[in-house]
Amino acid sequence: KGLRVQDKGFLNTAVIRSAITYIDGEAGVLRYRGYPIEQLALHSSHLETAYLLIYGSLPTTEQFKFFENEILRHSVVHSDAEGFFRSFRYDAHPMSMLTSAFAMLGSYYSDANPSLQGQRLFTEGDKASLAIMDRQIYRLIGKATTLAAMAYRVRQGRDFVTPPTGLSYTGSFLYQMDHIGEENYVPNPVLEKALDVLFLLHADHELNASCTTVLQTGSSLVDPYSAIAAGCASLYGPLHGGANEAVIRMLISIGRPENVPAFIEAVKRREKTLSGFGHRVYKTSDPRSFIVRKTADEVFKVTGKDELLETAMALHDAAMKDEYFIKRKLAPNVDFCGLIYRAMGFPLDFFPVLFAVPRVVGWLAHWRQMMLQEGGVKIWRPRQIYVGPGKRDYVPAEQRA
Ligand code: CMC
Repeated sequence: KGLRVQDKGFLNTAVIRSAITYIDGEAGVLRYRGYPIEQLALHSSHLETAYLLIYGSLPTTEQFKFFENEILRHSVVHSDAEGFFRSFRYDAHPMSMLTSAFAMLGSYYSDANPSLQGQRLFTEGDKASLAIMDRQIYRLIGKATTLAAMAYRVRQGRDFVTPPTGLSYTGSFLYQMDHIGEENYVPNPVLEKALDVLFLLHADHELNASCTTVLQTGSSLVDPYSAIAAGCASLYGPLHGGANEAVIRMLISIGRPENVPAFIEAVKRREKTLSGFGHRVYKTSDPRSFIVRKTADEVFKVTGKDELLETAMALHDAAMKDEYFIKRKLAPNVDFCGLIYRAMGFPLDFFPVLFAVPRVVGWLAHWRQMMLQEGGVKIWRPRQIYVGPGKRDYVPAEQRA
């Protein structure tokens, strides 16, 4: 009663005040805590940007050393987790494994579980509670790469690898993925840098579906592992984090550039979706897509060009000239980075994992902001407009038509 306006898909609903990420979708602007994404991609690293997103300012050298050290120290997971990963079927999707693994982690850390503690855990100004919160942040960022690499290795039938020491966050991830026993193995520095830039680009994007899910789940004051698992499940969908996988499947199905016009016509007849195009907020090119293209050039110098690149470029050019896409302001989003992942040798179904791992940072930044907001957390409980039947009486089965 009294509710008249339905906002399907939350096109015009602001549910929180946030100081983390700014997007101007008309002008193609993206800033983390005020810093343009282009500057961060050029000068910063994923982990330094993580600190910025979570705590609000760029770290001093000392602060960064401590943060990096804590995250890498917490990247080791309990050896019981190996049995957990081995219990999946040989062909399990890595996103299913990663989502489940985040939820599993929650069972290990009772210090993060308010219902077990019988109290609200996190309060601004209370040093002890902030330290508990920081510990969960270090664990979740640190273990994200390890869990992802475990999901990959179990699919490959390979043994698990303990996170190494002395490598960067992204370097350690590549080590855990690639390492097959060579002595003194180090990841290729160009590929390590490229992946780090892609991680930074994916670290946050304000209230997208997965971040909203994390906050919605977290608003019940559940532990952050469960909230992150919920976000991971939301990210898995093909309209969101699954789109980078869908882009490559689409390009494979198109095949040669000469098949592009027929595909475009099928999209316009609504028989197909042009994955990697369109965005709820950007009505011009996603600013991240330019950095992705530059990063792709660096990677292709090492790996050689992907055979699908020509098809991707033909598709891009055709769509950008076509009235259907111009009228709807549909432009490339960040998901064409799938071509880089493919060139680096990641399997197709691992692409959404490469989105989820860095996005853990953004989810945690928003979760922390919400938990510490003035006045405490208000549970997220939207309303509906009921359109079902009015009151009616129960009819026994033998009297039903
Ligand atoms: N191909 C063809 N038509 C499209 C596309 C597309 N990729 N995207 C939107 N449209 C059409 C849509 O059919 C609609 O047309 P009409 O007004 O005639 O009904 C119009 O454009 C507006 O689209 P919408 O679906 O109402 O827009 P939305 O804001 O609800 O959806 C979106 C945004 C990203 C889900 C959508 O653009 C899409 O499905 N894109 C393809 C999947 C994709 O690449 N997703 C990744 C998004 S970026 C990274 C991330 O957030 O995960």
